[in-house]
Amino acid sequence: MNRINNQPIGVFDSGVGGLSVLREISKQSPQENLIYIADQIHVPYGDRTKDQVLGYARGIVRFLIAEGAKLIVVACNTASAAALAELREIYPDLPFVGMEPAVKPAAEGTSSGVVGVLATPATFQGDLYSSTVERFAQGVRVLQHTCPELVELIESGQIDSPQTRDILKSALTPMLDQGIDKVVLGCTHYPFVIPIIQDIVGDGVLVIDPAPAVARQTHRLLEQHQIQGEQVNGSIEFLTTGDPGQFARNIQELIDLTNQVEKLDWEAGDLSRNP
Ligand code: DGL
Repeated sequence: MNRINNQPIGVFDSGVGGLSVLREISKQSPQENLIYIADQIHVPYGDRTKDQVLGYARGIVRFLIAEGAKLIVVACNTASAAALAELREIYPDLPFVGMEPAVKPAAEGTSSGVVGVLATPATFQGDLYSSTVERFAQGVRVLQHTCPELVELIESGQIDSPQTRDILKSALTPMLDQGIDKVVLGCTHYPFVIPIIQDIVGDGVLVIDPAPAVARQTHRLLEQHQIQGEQVNGSIEFLTTGDPGQFARNIQELIDLTNQVEKLDWEAGDLSRNP
């Protein structure tokens, strides 16, 4: 017999990227209450040091735990690379779900033997990425690109701008020339530009968005720990360390929700609600 637990699931990212994961979690686990934190004052995380991102992630997780989070989804590849191992060590009893570039399904499914990965510099530099490639991509050529400025463009709502297309073209054209048949999205911001990516790479290349698999893993962990919620329609609370009005517009544009957004402030490494 499962116990019922209506405490929220905490989900966070540097900005709007994790909304691509939140959308899937809410689809697959509509009975859950969710709290989403966007640390937009610090976006992009991808150009920061591991210690900086670790500090932010620890502060956000402390806040989410104080809010009663029963499970935390690190909906950010960069923060997962920098902080997931430490977070699991600090909070051994709290279930965490993290992001790692979906190199495994790409390497298993490739016919050409060449796959492309798009992610931030910090994600590529982390041990999580190199160990994933080492474990799962033996004998496969893995091409990488960091797509500079793409996160900032998506944050500012420029989803289908000429600049967005140019960045993606310069990332993907050399990969296409070398024969990729899979593209792994290793940054949670990138699923919002899938139509442009698909347009550039054509139908013969599979674009892999890890969000559905991450939402399935979240669901599995809730079951395993017997902490599933039982709301008819779970609530979603949105918080940002940036501009709440701008974030509300992002949310409407990207995942078609019209929720209120609350402001959070950083002080000495800790977050608090701005009354
Ligand atoms: N959405 C993030 C990721 O998955 C972070 C992007 C950034 O802030 O640079 O890596």
